[in-house]
Amino acid sequence: MKELSLHILDIVQNSISAEASKIEILIVENRTENQYIITIEDNGKGMDDEVLQMVTNPFFTTRTTRNIGVGISLFKQNAEQTGGSLTIESTVGVGTKLKAIFGYDHIDRPVLGDMAGTMTLLIGANPQIRFIYNHYTALSEFEFDTDEVKEELGKVPINHPDILKALKELIFENLDLIEAGK
Ligand SMILES: Nc1ncnc2c1ncn2[C@@H]1O[C@H](COP(=O)(O)OP(=O)(O)OP(=O)(O)O)[C@@H](O)[C@H]1O
Ligand SMILES: [Mg+2]
Repeated sequence: MKELSLHILDIVQNSISAEASKIEILIVENRTENQYIITIEDNGKGMDDEVLQMVTNPFFTTRTTRNIGVGISLFKQNAEQTGGSLTIESTVGVGTKLKAIFGYDHIDRPVLGDMAGTMTLLIGANPQIRFIYNHYTALSEFEFDTDEVKEELGKVPINHPDILKALKELIFENLDLIEAGK
């Protein structure tokens, strides 16, 4: 996969399938430790130990439409390619936390890509889910929570096209600012 945001989209789809009502995405850019860390946490139905053991194996899926699940194993492979790792913690009935560490400076670390587009796509299709996206760089941070947006909006739906457009711009501009260290 070419961009980290596409992996994130894919992993968040798992959380949505697991009927999560709250999904938190955290990105920490830690240049001093040479780590680019992506954490995705949900309050969905979770996985039992058997599924958890098998989940990083590319030939395992609970899907019935095709029998190869690739989302997590591909993410893991890509992280490991950069000297990093992928770990999952999950509890049935509580939720799942997936943490991928990429080597910051590694030539094979994909770029983040269109995170503003990814977030607004997710929000537009799942307006009832609370999405939290926090992104930290060494010098700056961006914190986003759809619950806060909804409070501001009052009766206006968060998936109204004009709102999604404004949110996309807001996320895009803020990510630009924190990358510049402003
Ligand atoms: N957040 C989650 N909550 C509960 N179960 C999960 C979660 N993420 C993954 N799983 C379980 O792990 C399996 C493997 O996930 P993975 O994303 O690798 O493949 P998939 O979703 O089955 O197929 P693909 O992502 O290729 O469309 C899923 O089928 C599901 O049973
Ligand atoms: Mg999947």
